[in-house]
Amino acid sequence: MISKLPASSIKDYIAFALEECRNKTLSLFVDVDAATFCSQAHHDFSPIGWHLGHIAYIESFWILEHCAGLPSLFPQYRKLFAADGLPKSQRVQLPQIAEIIYYLKTVRSKVLEYLEVADILEQERLWRFLIQHESQHCEIVRMVLELVNSQQSTVNSQQSIVHSQQSIVHSHVGEMVHIPAGEFEVGNNSMDALDNERPAHRIYLDSYWIDRYPVTCGEYQVFIEAGGYQNPEWWSVKGWQWLQTEQVTQPLYWNSDRLRRGVAHRTSNNHPVYGVSWYEAEAYSRFVGKRLPTEAEWEKAASWDTKANRRRIYPWGEDTPTPQHCNYDGFKTTPVNAYPQGQSAYGLYDTLGNVWEWTASWFDGYQGFASYPYKGYSQVYFDQKHRVLKGGSWASRPWVLRSSFRNWYYPQVRQIFAGFRCVRD
Ligand code: AVJ
Ligand code: FE
Repeated sequence: MISKLPASSIKDYIAFALEECRNKTLSLFVDVDAATFCSQAHHDFSPIGWHLGHIAYIESFWILEHCAGLPSLFPQYRKLFAADGLPKSQRVQLPQIAEIIYYLKTVRSKVLEYLEVADILEQERLWRFLIQHESQHCEIVRMVLELVNSQQSTVNSQQSIVHSQQSIVHSHVGEMVHIPAGEFEVGNNSMDALDNERPAHRIYLDSYWIDRYPVTCGEYQVFIEAGGYQNPEWWSVKGWQWLQTEQVTQPLYWNSDRLRRGVAHRTSNNHPVYGVSWYEAEAYSRFVGKRLPTEAEWEKAASWDTKANRRRIYPWGEDTPTPQHCNYDGFKTTPVNAYPQGQSAYGLYDTLGNVWEWTASWFDGYQGFASYPYKGYSQVYFDQKHRVLKGGSWASRPWVLRSSFRNWYYPQVRQIFAGFRCVRD
């Protein structure tokens, strides 16, 4: 494991990852205009410019103030960029993009200076947290940009899809994998693992069947055409209430995305559906006589290696993700069967990358949970109001891709790149 490396190698790795991570973050802002930078596309999400300043603030706070004991470099930014500073709606008055980039660069150069003298064996976990923190904000920026994009192309998205009858039923559609009863291990105690992944622990599960692939657009279209959005039979009480308020009839991004790809193009139906709330995932599952997996069911199918009787970090084993394993750091979804090398030991495809997958589970702490580095990272969300998502998306950074990683959102959120797969007893 990395933690057995000498301190200098850990530092080299950290410095490299910080730089790699930052390059991508900054690349997202290259063509962004001032209005997009500071406008709020949706009340659940902050403007993208806020995320940029917040990344610098968190790095400055944890490394320069907390570890190095330096005074705050830019005290005037605290209120604006701390997570508990201002409500999201008040994060629209931002410094110019150049000013925030200057903030990032100034903090980063001090941080790299400090890294050279830091006690990395003591602090490794915190530095790895920071890389994953930026990674997650980077993905949120991409979500907000996608949202802005879809709002700007409303003309396109109002066109209806004419070739719907051409939905193609692929041979693998609906294929399920049997997972035998037994014990396995969830969670992760490695240096990378965030507080909510710890401690790793064993769980027993009865046998179940799980979809080999995420639910595809073609499959989901059957639900739409069968009047799924008009029939309360498939919806929970809460889900139906949500639907009456929202009045949606298809996934967010459905038209704009499919038109861009060209729905007449046969493979379009072979991509995973995304832009659905947890309620839509729940309704679809009932429509096909299945249900959503618990996070334990998802994690066992994605990471347990029965033959070796051990958990894998990634579905395919221990090798860090490459573009041969799954769709991450990408530009759009890919067909659900595009990555045979990324299969789990049980033969599931696409568990990491492509789209996040909703699970039936509430976000909660494991037995023995301890907050790190602060309560507001995970613990304040243990409120039985957030559902767990697994697996990462095409917009995820490699540092958050692993089977034990847990994401969480309110069930009504559709702006994230989330789809799902189903299970049956
Ligand atoms: C895990 C994506 C829900 O965005 O609130 C970023 C990640 N936490 N900064 C969020 C996070 C603190 C978190 N999510
Ligand atoms: Fe944050």
